[in-house]
Amino acid sequence: MTNRPEVPDRAAVLAAVDAVDNLPPFPEVVAEVRDELGRPDPEPARVAALIEEDAALAARFLAVASAPRYSPTAPPRTVRQAVVRVGLAETARVILAVAVYERFRRFGPPDARAFWEHGMAVGLLGATLARMADASPEVAELAYTAGLLHDLGELALYHLYPEVSAAIAARSHKTGRPNHEVERAALGVEHGEVGGRLASRWGLPADLVAVVAFHHRPWAAPVDHRRAAQLVHIADFVAKHVGYVRAEDVPGEDFDGGAWAAWGFSLDDVDAILERARASGKEAAAFFA
Ligand SMILES: [Fe+2]
Ligand SMILES: [Fe+2]
Repeated sequence: MTNRPEVPDRAAVLAAVDAVDNLPPFPEVVAEVRDELGRPDPEPARVAALIEEDAALAARFLAVASAPRYSPTAPPRTVRQAVVRVGLAETARVILAVAVYERFRRFGPPDARAFWEHGMAVGLLGATLARMADASPEVAELAYTAGLLHDLGELALYHLYPEVSAAIAARSHKTGRPNHEVERAALGVEHGEVGGRLASRWGLPADLVAVVAFHHRPWAAPVDHRRAAQLVHIADFVAKHVGYVRAEDVPGEDFDGGAWAAWGFSLDDVDAILERARASGKEAAAFFA
């Protein structure tokens, strides 16, 4: 590391993550929209009202809903119209992405757009892989959410220790060692664990916390959440492989073959998976454009 910033140890990093109070909380609107959709009779008007409480969020949601895939003729004029165009289930996914981007883009790595683009590429691909493997819609949904948020720990590390994080990224590039390995060597902890800790502090569900925490070592995940962690691990690897990487990531990331086998994928699936990974990456890039 060139300018040798002071490097905290594991205990200091975990204590800082537990105490961080200048990072905004996870956006409440995500759970509120999800709750509304969980009701027996979800109402677009009520979903729209929740979104409209935050003007920046509403503006960005309208922009997303104006894309040709949702609005081939004229853009929606109101948030309610936008909810109807996007569809209720997809609105929840779009709001999650828009809300975390709006709220956290000033706090993470300098390349915030690439950071969230990578997250969305992983989330979209994770959900696609779940469907390819005939997993339940709930697993696909978890894969999307956890994929989007999987590198949350890097956001926290950059926020708490920008110089150390930049030095870790530089070393990872120079040596070709994966970022999380360099983190572990330097700090005694990697961004998966850090992200899981933050997600748990935010009160996010246990499955989500586990997938974030174990995405680089899915074999060690609690048994109930291992398959989901394996899925996001595969999606992360493949998304990077087809080029949806961030400046921090180096190619040649370690891959857990056990995850691939556990999901029953074979060599015959590789071409289809790579193709879907490229499509997910393009969709993610368009989303944050
Ligand atoms: Fe990661
Ligand atoms: Fe990642």
